[in-house]
Amino acid sequence: METKEKIVAGVAEASGEVVIKIKGLCKSFGDNQVLKGFNMELRKGENLVVMGKSGSGKSVMIKCLVGLMSPDSGYVEVLGKDINNLDQIALDELRSDIGFLFQGSALYDSMTVRENLEFPMRRHRKKFEGITDTLPLVREALENVGLAHTMDLMPSELSGGMKRRVALARAIILKPKLILYDEPTSGLDPITSKEIIELMRSIQKKYGTSALIITHDVDCARVISERMILLVDGTNYAEGTYAELVTSQDPNVNAFFKK
Ligand SMILES: Nc1ncnc2c1ncn2[C@@H]1O[C@H](COP(=O)(O)OP(=O)(O)O)[C@@H](O)[C@H]1O
Ligand SMILES: [Mg+2]
Repeated sequence: METKEKIVAGVAEASGEVVIKIKGLCKSFGDNQVLKGFNMELRKGENLVVMGKSGSGKSVMIKCLVGLMSPDSGYVEVLGKDINNLDQIALDELRSDIGFLFQGSALYDSMTVRENLEFPMRRHRKKFEGITDTLPLVREALENVGLAHTMDLMPSELSGGMKRRVALARAIILKPKLILYDEPTSGLDPITSKEIIELMRSIQKKYGTSALIITHDVDCARVISERMILLVDGTNYAEGTYAELVTSQDPNVNAFFKK
């Protein structure tokens, strides 16, 4: 028992390491000021949920994190790298350590499940140098989401929940240090949502990844978050555990938890 506690304490200590740091992030589109000085830190091994209503800038924020969008101002650091000061090669290398589950599933419709999973491996060849047979990696990733039997199917032959699971398998095939989930449960029925959340938890347990989860799904936030940030009016309006936020008296915070 004592040993176990020590190990847990050790993990807690290591989690002082920061894997994402965002400071004063601003992004506008014309007159539309979306992010107005957003701050965030994700610690190693942590599941952090950022919740914000539709159109509040969650996807914009996540795109700024992976260099798909450049901020107007602010500092964005991912896995120790200043994202806005990387050349294309360094950015690609950094991306090979990041799993990204896009909003929707964003599978390539013209490719089989296997080809969809091989795609990131081909893009990040350097990380897979020396691996000639990708099949065992594809199989392992699919087994993690319970879909090894779908390897040769086309996305159109899968249900919405299965597509999301394949997208999850594709996000973990690079054995990322960090996974970014953009609305992982949106468009899914409650039972399928629960299954996806369970998979996210089992992946974190198995690989020890850090995860940023963007959602407006309160149930998802409750189950998966260790800490939450509420994005309101372009800033990090409130921060705390689910239990802390759900009992808050602040009407802006309260609004998130009303059914
Ligand atoms: N490429 C873009 N060009 C113009 N406006 C954009 C672009 N991407 C996002 N926006 C606007 O930014 C706001 C936030 O969008 P988004 O981050 O997608 O919201 P959500 O929180 O729902 O993910 C919206 O008003 C959206 O219309
Ligand atoms: Mg979005």
